[in-house]
Amino acid sequence: MNQATVTVVVPTYEEFASLPSLIESIEKVRCDSLPNLDLIIVDDNSQDGTEQLITSLHKDWIKLIVRTQDKGLSPSVVAGLHSAVGEYCVVMDADGSHPASAIPAMIHALQEGADFAVGSRYVKGGSTEDGWGVLRWLNSKIATVMARPFTRVLDPMSGFIALSKSTFVQAKELNPVGYKIGLELIVKCQCQNVIEVPIHFSTRQLGESKLTLSVQWQYLQHVIRLLRHTKPALVSFWSFAMVGLSGAGLYLLLLMATSALFTSTPLAIGLAVWLTMTWNFIWDRKYAFWNSRERSIGTQYIGFVLVCSVGVLVNFFVTLSLSKSESMPFAGLIGVSIGSTIGIIFNFLMTRLCVFRK
Ligand code: GDD
Ligand code: MN
Repeated sequence: MNQATVTVVVPTYEEFASLPSLIESIEKVRCDSLPNLDLIIVDDNSQDGTEQLITSLHKDWIKLIVRTQDKGLSPSVVAGLHSAVGEYCVVMDADGSHPASAIPAMIHALQEGADFAVGSRYVKGGSTEDGWGVLRWLNSKIATVMARPFTRVLDPMSGFIALSKSTFVQAKELNPVGYKIGLELIVKCQCQNVIEVPIHFSTRQLGESKLTLSVQWQYLQHVIRLLRHTKPALVSFWSFAMVGLSGAGLYLLLLMATSALFTSTPLAIGLAVWLTMTWNFIWDRKYAFWNSRERSIGTQYIGFVLVCSVGVLVNFFVTLSLSKSESMPFAGLIGVSIGSTIGIIFNFLMTRLCVFRK
């Protein structure tokens, strides 16, 4: 028998049908190996009989938290972890996908010095029940690859995790959106030694999955947010480059329009340049320099225009001189290419250092 105190946190939404067998499997672990285990069910006010079910069980080691605000899997997990009293905490799904029988091995890994344990499908000995559609499989793989910059864990998406309460409280600025609370905790609790315990991941038997398209969109946002946290300069530069690329495309379209509308070539180029610069400013401010948005937008805009003017002037004069011999979109293409090449590093460094200072 392992005397460790363990709190198992299970987030639920409309899991009435799955709860009896879940509780049974956890109770078995409690009787066989972890007598000091307690369970917290964090229900998002499902109104499906969950509350009555838990109350009628009369088990003092099971606690129910009913949440009525900020619905969602991750915030529920965080709420459960906050109320956890055990020295170690486990998070698992209610639908039977995660085998409670793996809990002792996960706790053991923590006791042996790991700071995070994952019930893993993709480590040797782990498996996934057949019958996963191609889409779900692909989805899980893509999500895992996107987690790669943060952790080398093979299954950061499993959702079956364990960590000590003392590790959890170290988390700085937890930002729990969507489904990927495990990844969030690994990153924000700065877990270095993550152990993967092989599990067989079963397909849910009862009820329905809540992994919708909006949950996947949340995941994408979550990854970007985490990247901003761990690799701010890289995200900043890539966003700047992407905005620049979009600006170059927009510029060529605008140039076709303005040169058709105005007979004066400098006016046509100037207008297209100015509109593009404003476009880049708006998106750079939002995506590349997200952390300096408190400063005055007017000052930033002027600074941005001044810094960009070097590349812009090059672009302007190259396009203008080529426009005498070449057709307009082509002259514009050469101009914007040369201008942007000069601009990309210079503009990035200058805007970062001078315009969007923190
Ligand atoms: N409190 C609360 N609020 N619980 C929720 C909510 C919510 O809004 N949405 C889902 N849950 C609970 C479910 O009741 C279940 O216990 C658990 O979270 C997982 O939900 P599922 O709907 O079964 O998710 P899934 O099977 O699609 O995804 C699971 O497997 C993925 C790996 O394939 C999760 O474990 C994911 O984290 C994991 O990535
Ligand atoms: Mn599930």
